[in-house]
Order: sequence, then structure tokens, then C-alpha cells
Amino acid sequence: MWGGRFRGGLDPEFAHFQASLPVDHVLAFADLETNRAWSRALAAAGVLTQHEMHRLHRAIDELIAHWQQHGVPRDDDAEDVHSLVERELVARCGDLGKRVHTGRSRNDQVATDLRLFLREYTVELMRLVGEVCAALVDLAAAHADAPMPGYTHLQRAQPITIGHHALAHAEALARDHGRLVDAWQRFEQCPLGSGALAGTTVPVDRATLAEDLAFLGGPTRNSLDATAARDHLCELAFACAMACTHLSRLAEDYVFFASHEARFLTFGDAVSTGSSLMPQKRNPDAMELVRGHAGAVQGALVALLTTVKGLPLAYNRDLQTDKQVLLPALAATASCLRTAALAVRHATFDRDRCAAEAARGYQDATDLADLLVQAGVPFRDAHGIVGAAVNRAVELGVELSDLPAAEQRRLLPQLTVDLRRALAVDAVLARRAAIGGTAPACVRAEIERWRSQLADWAELHDEPEPEPEAP
Ligand code: ARG
Repeated sequence: MWGGRFRGGLDPEFAHFQASLPVDHVLAFADLETNRAWSRALAAAGVLTQHEMHRLHRAIDELIAHWQQHGVPRDDDAEDVHSLVERELVARCGDLGKRVHTGRSRNDQVATDLRLFLREYTVELMRLVGEVCAALVDLAAAHADAPMPGYTHLQRAQPITIGHHALAHAEALARDHGRLVDAWQRFEQCPLGSGALAGTTVPVDRATLAEDLAFLGGPTRNSLDATAARDHLCELAFACAMACTHLSRLAEDYVFFASHEARFLTFGDAVSTGSSLMPQKRNPDAMELVRGHAGAVQGALVALLTTVKGLPLAYNRDLQTDKQVLLPALAATASCLRTAALAVRHATFDRDRCAAEAARGYQDATDLADLLVQAGVPFRDAHGIVGAAVNRAVELGVELSDLPAAEQRRLLPQLTVDLRRALAVDAVLARRAAIGGTAPACVRAEIERWRSQLADWAELHDEPEPEPEAP
């Protein structure tokens, strides 16, 4: 492919080191589409006849059928997927196969192939984020009014509903969905026709070429940037790293909820594992693995940024390592999303225990202070009064609402309300009724909003890629 200046062959060690086919074979079908579009552009520019273009297109169709049936070879001696495709086209079309590389470089090819491949992959990741959210929304719907303890600093703070907690994780993932949509839009410019770095000498119509490959944003506007840029890969890696980081927080919450100390939920057999030694164990490995994989995905982001940092314009071979780093991170993100959705669907909350624990540990102290405020006590003073009441309740080993009447009169003389009723968990929850609060009514409203958002997402994910233009 590039042997003109060379007499000796590559050292086998280096030949192996520089080959990217074991990784970039996944771009084969995208590469065939760029070949189809490029040959069409060459024909429009008068470099190929219509007849030659049709011969190439037939060969491309044959290759697609062949590789769909037999798979794309990965341990071939071709240097990369582009040289593999070129060799196969030459094998089928002779010299015509060689002419399709006119005015083109593997540098603009790989940039184009990657965008084609990644925009599809990104839609799949968006769909999987939607699946985790759908699982959380279903869980929230089942437990919209079920109380559980809410934590800050992993200390009991205020009661929340199980539904509110589930939707909190869904909200974070919704932002990741938005980030994936942004990354996906960043792929929507077509680098093909940028040549190796300076542009192509063939008078191709790059706007038509971009349309042909269904790039909604038209052609890239600078050939140096088009062949050198990988920020869109970093952006996708960040969206994945953030999504996995969010999943790791969901995982951690549920691992804790499944502990004997909390006993808020049990994972079903489908997502639990046992111990080879301790017969009693039921371990939450699904969520632990989700938590664990986040590390490698974060690592991929750092690896990509570090590869691009300080790299001179335009293309450098360093860039070949992008796929090696990004593709496993995308695969890990996809499996973490699938597993997290599964684990949420197989998590059974113990509503009674959650409700009982929501009423323990002075999580109603803030509400008691608010009651004092209503009775005219300044909040700072109320805070101190309730603090003293909590101390006394701890001494007596009771909850605030169970303080004996005499203690209540002594510690909280300003209050005449029935504390049992005023501090009942349901009352505490219902007070948090402003938008975004944990009151069951709010949670139900958010579930409605979520259902329509999930339906919008489903439309977005199912939208077929725009069909390439007919010649
Ligand atoms: N396989 C390379 C990559 O993935 C593309 C080939 C560019 N090679 C070159 N010597 N300019 O980046």
C-alpha cells in the first residue's frame, strides 16, 4: 500500500505492533460505506465512470454480504481495516479497486469511519441509559409513598420515599443521556474529502458527500482539524465515565441497602452470587461489578486526553491508539448499564422495614424545629431546643414523639400539638411538597413527567439513521 520507498520489510515485532486490524475491524462496514460514498463522489467529479462506480458498488455489496455471513477477519496480515477493504476491492475489481483511493487518505477515512460507527454506538448507549431510567421509574411507581431513611454523611437525616430515592438516580442518568446526545451531535460533520491533512485535489462536492453519508452537519470546515481532532471521542468518553460514575453511586447505595446493617432490600437470585466457602452468603456482586468497572471507564477518558495533549497538528500515528482505549470503555459502559437495569429490576425493597427505620433515629428533628418556628420561636433557638430534646430522648432511649408528657412540657413548653401525629413519618413526608421534594404527591407527579420523557427518548432512539441519498 505504501511500499514504493522501501526495500526491506518490517521487523515482525514492529509489524505486529503497528497493526490495528485486531481492534479496528469493527469499522469494516463503516469503511465500506465511506468507500461507496467516495466512489460516488469520484464519479461525480469525472474521475470514475458511472460504470466503474457501479462495479465498485457491487463489490462493496458482495463484501458486506460475505462479512455479514463469515465475520470480518481480525488476524489477517492487512495493516488496518482500510487496507483490508482496499485489498478486497482490488481482488474483486483489479486496478479499479486501486483507483478508489484517488484523492483520499486513511487519515480522513478513519476520521469518517469512526464518526459513522460511534454515532450508532452512541444511540445504543442512549437507549441503555433509558433502560436503567425505566427500571428506576417503575420502581419509583411501585414505592412512590413508601418511606425509608434518608442520609447525609451516611447518618440518618430525614425520611424520604423509596420512589424519591430511585428518581434521584434517574435524574443523574438523564443528564448523562443529554451528554450522549451532545456527543452524538458532535459526530455530525463529515471529514471525508480532507485528504491526509491539506484537503483533496479532486474536485469533489463535499456537501453532497456529507449528505450521502447522512451527516446532518455538512462537511468539516478545516482539513487539518478534521484529520487531527479527537475531542469528540474524549467527549463521548466523558459521557461514559460520568454515566458509569453515576451507576457506581447507585450501586453503592444498593449494596449498602442490601447489607445486614440496613436490610432495606434483597437482590434476587438472578443478580446475586454466593461464597465458595460461606454457605450463608448472598452477595450483591452485580452492583459491585458495576461500581468496579467505573474505574476503567474513567481511565479511558484520562488515557484519551493524555494521548491528544500536546500532539502536533495534524494526524499522528498516536491517534491510532484511540480506538484501543475507547472501544472497550464503550463496551464496559454498555454492560454496566444493562447490568444496573437488571439489578434494579431484581431488587425487592422490604417496605415494612424501610418504613419502620424511617421512623427511627430522630429523622423528624427538623420538623420538630419547624413546629417551634410556627409557634413563634426563632429558628436558631428552635434548633437548640430540639437538640436538647434529642439528647434527653437518647438518654431515655425513645424517639422524640415518644417523649413522656412531662418531659415534653418541660423541654418544649411552646408546643401544644400532638407530637405523635405531627411527627408521623407520613406527615413529615407530606410537608416536603414543593417541586423536587420527597412528598408522595411530588414523586407521583415526577413519575408522570418521567413517563413522557421516556416516551420521547424511545422515539429518539428508534429514529432510523437517515437513508443515504440515491446516486
Ligand atoms: N490505522 C490508522 C488509525 O487508526 C489509520 C491509518 C493512518 N496511517 C498513517 N500512516 N497515516 O489511525
